[in-house]
Amino acid sequence: MRSSLVREVRLNNGTRMPVIGLGTYSYQNDSYTTQQAIHLALQMGYRHFDTAKIYGSEPAVGAALADAFHQGKVAREDVFVTSKLWGSDHHDPVSALRRTLKNLRMEYLDLYLVHWPVKLKPWACNPMPEESEFEDLDLESTWAGMEQCIELGLCRSIGVSNFSTAKIEALLDFASIPPAVNQVEMHPMWRQSRLREVCGEHKIHVSAYSPLGGPGNAWGSTAVVESPIVQSIAHKHGATPAQVALQWGLAKGVSVVVKSFNQRRIRENMEAINLELDDGDIDDIDGLQEWKIMRGEFLVNDTTSPYKSLEELWDYEI
Ligand SMILES: NC(=O)c1ccc[n+]([C@@H]2O[C@H](COP(=O)([O-])OP(=O)(O)OC[C@H]3O[C@@H](n4cnc5c(N)ncnc54)[C@H](OP(=O)(O)O)[C@@H]3O)[C@@H](O)[C@H]2O)c1
Repeated sequence: MRSSLVREVRLNNGTRMPVIGLGTYSYQNDSYTTQQAIHLALQMGYRHFDTAKIYGSEPAVGAALADAFHQGKVAREDVFVTSKLWGSDHHDPVSALRRTLKNLRMEYLDLYLVHWPVKLKPWACNPMPEESEFEDLDLESTWAGMEQCIELGLCRSIGVSNFSTAKIEALLDFASIPPAVNQVEMHPMWRQSRLREVCGEHKIHVSAYSPLGGPGNAWGSTAVVESPIVQSIAHKHGATPAQVALQWGLAKGVSVVVKSFNQRRIRENMEAINLELDDGDIDDIDGLQEWKIMRGEFLVNDTTSPYKSLEELWDYEI
């Protein structure tokens, strides 16, 4: 296996995370395909896998990795596994993580993230919550539960996802254990420069989800991979647009969590690590019109959600 390809970042608690992760969200969510993708990814040097309770992919990730451990292809301590706390589990993160670990057939998780700054009724189980399922967010009590997960040895690191700079700063006011990571949408058309700056000041690592803009997802877009600027940079280097988008993220110091269940593209994405972009390429990408693709409309309503508008959800950072 080409593990020499794997490069890592050191998180604020000293643990290391490989900079390219394999995303496992797929609306088709076929367990066999997911497992095959993980086996292929392991062969190609991926050591970082991203899942979440709400994706329904935890059992497939767990089955594939258990198989790889059993066959001696890789050891548990050599892979970095992330999962996420859904809104309905803010009441009891410890129990939620125990269920996640059971799904994953693991004793501990490397990183557990608060998926969204949204709390839902305990029975809410759909990715798109009903209007009747929202509750007021009580981040202090949710975070205390996340900290307990660390204290109990159920995970090595805790963090957040989809948090604005304002929410990061509010969290830091009471956190005993600061978040190690904020996983957010980031790609050449949604660059998160202010968020990266603030997270950097607090030693919180930014991890980019949908680093290609999620082409092929119901809510995603081909705008990044079809951008004429990204395509011309790719052409110049004999690379692909996806590799340019991924290397642009790596050059900004973030890790990238990219989903592919296709053998050629799984390899292509890992090989982005070898691409060298010129300063001018980065400048050209940094000049692209910005556009947030994953806006989170499904978490906003006039009545029950604490967020009455997208501006409120993102604290006017949209
Ligand atoms: N924290 C959050 O709220 C959050 C939100 C969204 C996503 N995520 C995580 O981030 C991961 C990645 O995000 P994402 O899946 O939304 O978007 P993405 O990784 O930007 O894009 C994935 C899509 O691009 C296609 N693709 C992959 N490599 C490609 C390439 N080299 N060229 C062209 N197309 C390519 C994939 O299809 P094929 O499989 O056919 O290659 C898939 O349809 C998710 O799987 C999930 O783990 C987290």
